Amino acid sequence: MGEAVGRRAVLGGAAAAGVAMLAANTAGAQEVQRGKGRFAGKVVIVTGATSGIGRETAIAFAAAGAKVGFCGRREELGREVEREIRRAGGEATYVRADVRVPEQVQAFVDGVAVRYGRLDIAFNNAGIHLGKPAHEITVDEWDDVQRTNARGVFLSIKYEVPHLLKAGGGVIVCTGSAQADQTRPGHAAYTASKRAVQGIVRAAALDYGAKGIRVLSVDPGTTDTRLVRPPGIPDDLWARFKQAWGPLNVHGLPRMGEANEIASAVLALASPDFAYLTGTSVLVDGGLNTGRPMTMPPGSTPPA
Ligand SMILES: NC(=O)c1ccc[n+]([C@@H]2O[C@H](COP(=O)([O-])OP(=O)(O)OC[C@H]3O[C@@H](n4cnc5c(N)ncnc54)[C@H](OP(=O)(O)O)[C@@H]3O)[C@@H](O)[C@H]2O)c1
Repeated sequence: MGEAVGRRAVLGGAAAAGVAMLAANTAGAQEVQRGKGRFAGKVVIVTGATSGIGRETAIAFAAAGAKVGFCGRREELGREVEREIRRAGGEATYVRADVRVPEQVQAFVDGVAVRYGRLDIAFNNAGIHLGKPAHEITVDEWDDVQRTNARGVFLSIKYEVPHLLKAGGGVIVCTGSAQADQTRPGHAAYTASKRAVQGIVRAAALDYGAKGIRVLSVDPGTTDTRLVRPPGIPDDLWARFKQAWGPLNVHGLPRMGEANEIASAVLALASPDFAYLTGTSVLVDGGLNTGRPMTMPPGSTPPA
């Protein structure tokens, strides 16, 4: 099972720079309020926080006073996020863990709960993308997408719940996708995996509602991360592409989403402001799925 499968090889230098810039913006704009932030005293787990939406969410939770344990496979980036959070006065621990491997997920979750003494909130976000017509998808590729996006969420929930029950309740937010509701060509494997996330969320919400655990998903529309940004594309070209792409594709707010905007939604959903929300998927897509069908400039990369 190759790790590169479905990741679309979008780890170019420009992509990394873009992600770093987004993270720097968020971290720089927010002051850590340990002891008095919205999530002070809370312990939060984030899977897949070495880049993109997970990274922004880990930074945002820490800036709001939470102690954050997060994972991902790219150790160097994980350490970088950890350092960035600590430099800003927050508390975070990176653990190298692959959500496809049960023992690693369990060790990660248990380790964070032991280190910080409890678990209150989990953001199960790790995911990969694959864009291919159904008959061209290899069996290994299919399995890798499901093992990462769907089984990874199941494993995370499996090992998080005992800690949440011990804490007397909590919140689990999983990352779905706007593709779960309205898919496009080439998305059989990805959409199947994100529909599975919606199913897991609905069922688990019923398993644990009476025990004080809310379970839901945030379903992002196309968001500017390495998942959608072609590898090596220069910043100015990418900016121009986004400018053209927005009005053609997002018929509500005519632009691509930013990772920190999805992070803001996750924090809101995990907060007591949404105490009566569970077993559902919240679309955060700028109105992507309403209006005319999706159109892309010729030769462009289809978004997640
Ligand atoms: N960007 C979009 O337009 C969009 C839209 C809808 C939904 N989403 C979803 O949002 C989530 C985050 O994606 P993103 O857009 O932020 O892209 P990203 O920057 O590629 O983030 C994906 C994260 O998942 C981690 N990950 C992938 N496979 C993993 C594994 N086996 N074990 C542990 N961690 C793993 C990656 O870390 P490592 O590579 O270091 O392991 C990375 O931190 C995904 O679930 C994606 O499907 C994205």
